[in-house]
Amino acid sequence: RASGLKDYYKNYFPIGVAVKPSDLHNQEKSLILTHFNSITAENAMKMGPIHPLENRFFWKIADSIVQFGLQNKIKVRGHCLVWYAQTPRWLFKDSIGNQVTKEVLLSRIKNHINTVVSRYRGKIYAWDVVNEVIADDTSTFRKSQLYNIAGEDFIEQAFRDAHAADPKALLFYNDYNTENPIKRDKIYQMLKKLLAKGVPIHGVGLQAHWSISNPTRSELEKSIELFSSLGLQIQFTELDVSVYSGRQGGQMITGEKGTNAAVFTPEMEQQQLEKYKMVFEVFRKYKKNITGVTFWNLSDRYSWLDARGRKNFPLLFDADLKPKKAYYEVTKF
Ligand code: XIL
Repeated sequence: RASGLKDYYKNYFPIGVAVKPSDLHNQEKSLILTHFNSITAENAMKMGPIHPLENRFFWKIADSIVQFGLQNKIKVRGHCLVWYAQTPRWLFKDSIGNQVTKEVLLSRIKNHINTVVSRYRGKIYAWDVVNEVIADDTSTFRKSQLYNIAGEDFIEQAFRDAHAADPKALLFYNDYNTENPIKRDKIYQMLKKLLAKGVPIHGVGLQAHWSISNPTRSELEKSIELFSSLGLQIQFTELDVSVYSGRQGGQMITGEKGTNAAVFTPEMEQQQLEKYKMVFEVFRKYKKNITGVTFWNLSDRYSWLDARGRKNFPLLFDADLKPKKAYYEVTKF
């Protein structure tokens, strides 16, 4: 088999990709087998999809992704156990439609985590346990329904529940915009406090939803050094590089919205390959701290960013699944 991305990085870290069920067949399947040695379910393991009713789990897609990993000797990352988005409606309501108490919410979360993590014990090597609880505005915590009902206690509990269900799984806190100094510091303070209390957290997932203008090399290096200083391993869990200039301060992208640029221009190509080249230089430099780099989707044929107003071209493979110039940049070392 021709050498792929994972082979270039075999002395560095696993190279992962977020997958949807149709990626496990046809041309997409062979692209995965050539280039990747880790997979994450793009949606299938989130609470809404996998636990749609209180007493009903929908395992089919998640199981098939785990099975694909096992059959092909590809590591599987679990994503994610507790997140404010894509939660099922039943989670926050009792049988007559009133909001549940903190105690009920925490026990539902515990049951969810225990059931899902136990099912894949020994098969999923790392879990994003808690996703995106830090706010982008001036408050520390995101004012989600989870937080409004349970305060910050659900965070600690989620890690403890996951650890009890699979003591060998690596447990991650995962978030985006982690190169923003203010948000980065809030995440750091939270993790430091949790670690001091003995909460089982092994790593921090930096989503890496980046763009041609973000992050800078120095902020990226600072993030790696700061989180490493807590003794945590680092994984880049959702890498993509938008061809539109993102605004630091969130996933919100201002400016080009509505222009619906469907063309990957030479200028985009150049700016994007420079960003990819830089971030992979940094990843290689910090290989001791980094235990995984996962792309969020396989190729420009489909990216979750396409749904955000206009077609994007954020990955290393084009819509024909051919390597882009950026691919050659990140494998030239
Ligand atoms: C995204 C998926 O890619 C989309 O298909 C879905 O509609 C919304 O969620 N941060 C995360 C991921 O942690 O779970 C998100 O995935 C992208 C942002």
